Amino acid sequence: MSETSETEPVALVVIGHHRSDSLTAAVAERTAKRLAAGGYRVDVLHLEEEAFDPRNGVADEPDYGDREKRYSEEVHRHIARVHAADVIVPVFPVWWYGLPALLKGWIDRVWNYGLTYGRSKSPMAGKRMLWIALAGLAEDDPNSALTRAFLDGPLRVGISAYCGIPDATAVALFDSEGQGLTGAERDRHYRELFAKADAAVDVLL
Ligand SMILES: Cc1cc2nc3c(=O)[nH]c(=O)nc-3n(C[C@H](O)[C@H](O)[C@H](O)COP(=O)(O)O)c2cc1C
Repeated sequence: MSETSETEPVALVVIGHHRSDSLTAAVAERTAKRLAAGGYRVDVLHLEEEAFDPRNGVADEPDYGDREKRYSEEVHRHIARVHAADVIVPVFPVWWYGLPALLKGWIDRVWNYGLTYGRSKSPMAGKRMLWIALAGLAEDDPNSALTRAFLDGPLRVGISAYCGIPDATAVALFDSEGQGLTGAERDRHYRELFAKADAAVDVLL
């Protein structure tokens, strides 16, 4: 995290991959640098390195009769970082047309009742969100439609908009494993993937 300033907007970049040497982490770090260069104070949340436990437990089950409920300390530490952010950028691989458990558990536990939804004035009002998904399937694979539907449905509408963030977008970087590509063709492919991520990030600048 860079030095704090009262005036800088804050970006929370969430890495939803267990490996620091993954392409996902590389895209996330590139995104963080781009946001910082664009004037954000960037908080990088590497869920695995910070040993976030994605398993929901009794302490973090929502109590719909009490939106003031005190959740676990871990959840309150995390929601403070979410609330401090002007933009939230989860970066993750698509696994079985969904979020990896690490990131799904962060949403399940931290984006909880009373903390992100369930209030007449949304605690998330005014924030923006960009979901960056890396998908192994080629863009023209018929099953890629399932990934697009997941990004636009459960992520953009079901989570972001539901929690009071209508200004949300989701971008997919397809063919993230560069299947069958070698040499210059492979290099060009990855330049294009990075450029697609950069263009999505630039909308936030
Ligand atoms: C458990 C698992 C499930 C996966 N499911 C999908 C999927 O549903 N759709 C898809 O396009 N790619 C899928 N993939 C491929 C990953 O999206 C791909 O390996 C990843 O984006 C590569 O980025 P990384 O090097 O950062 O892991 C899956 C990979 C794993 C390991």
